[in-house]
This record gives sequence, structure tokens and C-alpha cells, in this order.
Amino acid sequence: MYIVFLGAPGAGKGTQAATVAVELNLVHIATGDMFREAQKQETELAKQARFYMEKGELVPDEITIQMVLERIAAPDCENGVIFDGFPRTLKQAEALDEALEKQGKMIDSVVYIKVSEAELVERLGGRWICRQCQAPYHMVNSPPRTPGKCDRCGGELYQRPDDTPETVRERLRVYFAETAPLIDYYNRAGKLLEVGGEGSVDDVRERILVTLDKESVGQRE
Ligand code: AP5
Repeated sequence: MYIVFLGAPGAGKGTQAATVAVELNLVHIATGDMFREAQKQETELAKQARFYMEKGELVPDEITIQMVLERIAAPDCENGVIFDGFPRTLKQAEALDEALEKQGKMIDSVVYIKVSEAELVERLGGRWICRQCQAPYHMVNSPPRTPGKCDRCGGELYQRPDDTPETVRERLRVYFAETAPLIDYYNRAGKLLEVGGEGSVDDVRERILVTLDKESVGQRE
């Protein structure tokens, strides 16, 4: 199964993709996490990614597409992937379709997690993430058991530099201009599954799993 998680910054893509991937035994590929991970070393990719991420803009397609295509060629992706934060432009979506087609595969479903703009801003303002494993927390909605420490790996929690109010505004603007058109792209392909992203993390996960299950039953019939 190859599934895309689509949604605005703060919609809960990362939170949900991490657990749904475990549940469905799929590899979780998050381009934002890959770029942040790369920044732990001073590579050329890291420098370029930081330049765009700090401003809330998208990293250029050529860089992002190459990084993802290299990742999906790895043997662990054979059984399926959840893409989180990719594709984000029409060009990325087409490149992904083309690359999968060459391997005799395709995107099966696109889970569009829908959340109101006011809720997105509130979530990003309260987010802390783990420096080591990138697990996201929220100071009010999903706090860690020990303040400042990751429940999963004990890593230090920090606030992302692109979660400042000004950069969040820019990220939302970029999302509506460049990524939201993918809703229509996948809807026309008959792959879009819309899921309400508000409510508890557990409720949203349950909604996603039920929706994906209904879809796969529908495809088998
Ligand atoms: P990326 O890291 O992908 O950021 P994003 O898409 O802006 O998404 P977020 O990580 O902000 O949100 P999310 O939907 O994952 O929400 P989360 O689960 O964390 O990308 C960062 C940058 O990298 C981009 O701006 C760009 O520069 C670059 N980049 C990445 N991919 C690229 C691409 N394909 N092309 C070009 N450039 C790219 O949850 C948010 C918060 O809400 C957390 O605090 C969480 O605890 C909380 N929360 C989650 N669910 C709930 C719930 N149900 N109720 C209450 N709170 C909740």
C-alpha cells in the first residue's frame, strides 16, 4: 500500500502517520523530518533546505523529488509507504506517480486531514518536538509525561524555528497556494479520502483507520 497523508501545516500528518504506519506495517517517509535530520550535518542539502525552511517556503522541487525517489528505491519500501508532507506541489505528485508506475506500483489512497485554520495556528504555537526522534508533542493537548523530555526516546524537546507566528502565516499561505491544489488532483484520480482532523489524537487515528479499511474493502469488492 502506498498512501499519502495530505493536510495543512499542523493538521496532524506527522502525529497520525507515525502510528498508522506501525499499525499497517508501512514505512513512514516524512520529508520535513528528512530535511531536519540532514541539518544535523553541514551538508549541501542541509544548507539549501535550511535557507527555505527558515522562511516558511518550500524547498525546490528538484532537491525534494530526488531525495524522495532515492529513499523509495530502498528495499524496506517494497511493501508500502506512508508519505507525510510529500507531495506538496503538482510537479512532486506527478514525479511520484511516474516513479511508482515504473515499479508497477501506484498511490492507493490519499488521506486528506482537514482542520480549521484557527485550530492549525493554535496547534503550531503549542508544539514541541523531540530533537532526536522528531516525535511531536503539544503543551496542552498532548504533553510529554516528563516536561521537556520525549516519552519515546528520552530526547530533548524543542520548538521548531519555523513555528513562530510570522513563519506559520507564510507556511499557511504557501500551503493554500501550492499544496491545496493537490486535493483536486487526487480527487479527480478517485483517490481522495477526507477525514476530519479535529478531536482527540486517538479519535482521529480511529477515523483514519476505519476510512482506509472501508476503502480497501471497497477495492476488493
Ligand atoms: P514539515 O515538517 O512537513 O511541516 P508541515 O507540513 O508544515 O507540517 P507540520 O509538521 O507543521 O504539521 P503536521 O501536519 O505534521 O502536524 P503534527 O502532527 O506535527 O515541513 C517543514 C518544512 O520543510 C516546509 O515548510 C518546507 O520548507 C520543507 N518541506 C517539507 N516537505 C517538503 C516538500 N515535499 N517540498 C518542499 N519543501 C518541503 O501536529 C501539530 C501539532 O498539533 C503538534 O503539537 C501535535 O501534538 C498537535 N496535534 C496533533 N493532532 C492533534 C489533535 N488531534 N488534537 C490536538 N492537537 C493535535
